[in-house]
Amino acid sequence: MNIAEKLAAPSWVVLQLLEQCNLRCAICYEWGSGGAYHAKHHLAMLDVDVALRTVEECLPTKPVFEFFGGEPLLYPGIWDIVRAIRKGGCDVSFSTNGTLLEENADRLIDSAPTQIWVSLDGPSAINDAQRGSGVFQRATDGIKVVANTRRAMHQRFPKLGINYVVTAASSPHIEEFFRESIDLSLIDSVSIELQRYATADQVRAFAQELEVEFATHTNAYAQGYVRDPSEFLNMDFDWIERQIAAIRTMCAAKEIAFYGQPQDLSAGNIRNFFTANWHAMTGRRSRCGVPWLYAEISARGDVTTCHTFYDLSIGNIYEQSLLEIWRGARLKRVQTFLRGGLFSICTACCRYYAASGTV
Ligand SMILES: C[S@@+](CC[C@H](N)C(=O)[O-])C[C@H]1O[C@@H](n2cnc3c(N)ncnc32)[C@H](O)[C@@H]1O
Ligand code: SF4
Ligand code: SF4
Repeated sequence: MNIAEKLAAPSWVVLQLLEQCNLRCAICYEWGSGGAYHAKHHLAMLDVDVALRTVEECLPTKPVFEFFGGEPLLYPGIWDIVRAIRKGGCDVSFSTNGTLLEENADRLIDSAPTQIWVSLDGPSAINDAQRGSGVFQRATDGIKVVANTRRAMHQRFPKLGINYVVTAASSPHIEEFFRESIDLSLIDSVSIELQRYATADQVRAFAQELEVEFATHTNAYAQGYVRDPSEFLNMDFDWIERQIAAIRTMCAAKEIAFYGQPQDLSAGNIRNFFTANWHAMTGRRSRCGVPWLYAEISARGDVTTCHTFYDLSIGNIYEQSLLEIWRGARLKRVQTFLRGGLFSICTACCRYYAASGTV
């Protein structure tokens, strides 16, 4: 496939299946304290036929798919969509809070998404203080059942990953969690990422960019990221570095894939991140190539080029097909803006820290 053909369709497609979630994790930009979703008057869910039509439309160019939520395992049509994607020869992964894994184990093995990521933020007491009482037990029981069912049925998929977010509360417990709280023999991948947030000033500047450049008068999704960096003042960055380095080494010894975000998880870089000193971070960017490759569809059908920032929509799949939107003027406008620099909010975006984020 030449470059023009490659850019004629997104090669990475994320479907936010629904907004609803059964948890209220403290750090979450959707449903946590200050999260953007509390203000919604009704909670949207993608129409399954429209989602399937969109998947079918994309399959010929073989993109990678991801699901997002809310909690994806609450979405009734999820298995039909996984099957359509896998039958079409593509990968699909999603993150889950793990509370519904056990009851869905058979369906997971049968439909075989490529990878699921279970979100856990520490040993039982720490995790549950952030994510809710009893969540640790349900998630770890679910991991066991899925891993054992997969083994018993001689299946390769879904691969199982742990997604650990480093927060003020979880940061002292990283090593303890991976050494003592979780059975790593059941796990294929580990991801450790820093809690993303934005300052109020960044969101104000982003709101201005939306207004002036895109005539967009809402910034509600971005607002969900606002945190005061003073929340992170007491974190011990040297210790965080040592713990993550130990886990990285342990994963290598056990042949578990390890992903860190940002890639440089040295004490200095972590300090710069949590003190809002982003311009001093290694690997900082002046450009982002993701919006040339990436389409994310919100549960309301809005299409955006940027993960979770649904304020900046380039079209809606209830009105046009995804590929029509992808070839439209609004995407070109976003790309033109990004040729000149980044959005003010980009340091709160996980794609900013992903290795493939620049062109
Ligand atoms: C928003 S959740 C949606 C999927 C599912 N409900 C779950 O918890 O895995 C996706 C991922 O974002 C993580 N997350 C939530 N708030 C975050 C933040 N402020 N910074 C980094 N990751 C965050 C969650 O821990 C989870 O791993
Ligand atoms: S389970 Fe996921 S979407 Fe729900 S509140 Fe927690 S992090 Fe947010
Ligand atoms: S880093 Fe910025 S431009 Fe790139 S995907 Fe994220 S929000 Fe969009």
